[in-house]
Amino acid sequence: MVKTKHTEAKPFVKWVGGKTQLLGDIEKYLPKDFAHRNITYVEPFVGGGSVLFWMLRTFPNISHAVINDINPKLINVYRAVKESPTELISLLQTLENEYLPLDAEHRKAMFLAKRQLFNSNEINAMEQAALFVFLNRTCFNGLYRENLKGLFNVPHGKYAKPMICNEDTIMADAELLQKVEILNGDFASTAAFAGENTFYYFDPPYKPLSSTSSFNNYVKENFDDTEQIRLKEFCQYVAAKGSEFILSNSDVKSHNPENDFFDNLYSDYTIHRVWASRMVNSNAEKRGKLSELMISNVKQTAYRNLFDK
Ligand SMILES: C[S@@+](CC[C@H](N)C(=O)[O-])C[C@H]1O[C@@H](n2cnc3c(N)ncnc32)[C@H](O)[C@@H]1O
Repeated sequence: MVKTKHTEAKPFVKWVGGKTQLLGDIEKYLPKDFAHRNITYVEPFVGGGSVLFWMLRTFPNISHAVINDINPKLINVYRAVKESPTELISLLQTLENEYLPLDAEHRKAMFLAKRQLFNSNEINAMEQAALFVFLNRTCFNGLYRENLKGLFNVPHGKYAKPMICNEDTIMADAELLQKVEILNGDFASTAAFAGENTFYYFDPPYKPLSSTSSFNNYVKENFDDTEQIRLKEFCQYVAAKGSEFILSNSDVKSHNPENDFFDNLYSDYTIHRVWASRMVNSNAEKRGKLSELMISNVKQTAYRNLFDK
């Protein structure tokens, strides 16, 4: 691939559920003429944005994009990257210069002090954004998890040389974000954009494979089966308005052959099963390849797999 300044555009945080390894599958199931249309791209559960930045890099014909996430602190970082990237870089540089030379004990003390400051709400939006990135880069596994009071509570991680200030990524992301409208709310707040030239990619918190398995506590609100059903109704709504969509979710049937939850819920749509390695499970034995679902109303895909129904 030719290296342009957009090559560097990628997630500025680590985020559970990142879709980097599914990009090839998403590309296969996009509408056939996707690269040649004037498209509005909508991502109601943007998370770390691995799909967003890939889409914006790969399809310059996307004239307008809309992203949303329910997490206000994450969305605050998107806004900071879009509106004041150099100010954000300068704050991150200061944090990096302070953190990296410290020994393990002092790094931990600095992490805990910054985590407390982040949770205190006594800082302005730009400082909040810089601390979000700092904590994400220095916490355990790059997780974002809140307790019931909505406070970030992930412990310190032990990376030798974490990349706290990635200037090239932030500048490249800032440029691509100029055509992106940034919303903070429930996924249904993207309803107003449904229409014929709008494409939706949904990546909701996955339905857990079992009651103890998957991580889906991104925020204090839970995404349970009632939410999965409400999301299916939303897909029906955007489809009725003429939008095409792809939605990812876990393949609960591959774990328990009698679990037809998604096969029944999305029986009106095409369900593709794709393979992905999942790294969320802390038990190394349970990491490995799992099938996932890609559900869609796209009739003519860019690539038609002969083995698909
Ligand atoms: C699986 S992650 C998205 C991962 C993303 N595609 C990536 O590559 O990093 C799901 C996201 O949905 C958000 N979320 C949870 N409930 C939501 C809701 N009701 N409406 C909008 N976003 C929600 C979470 O904050 C989380 O960032």
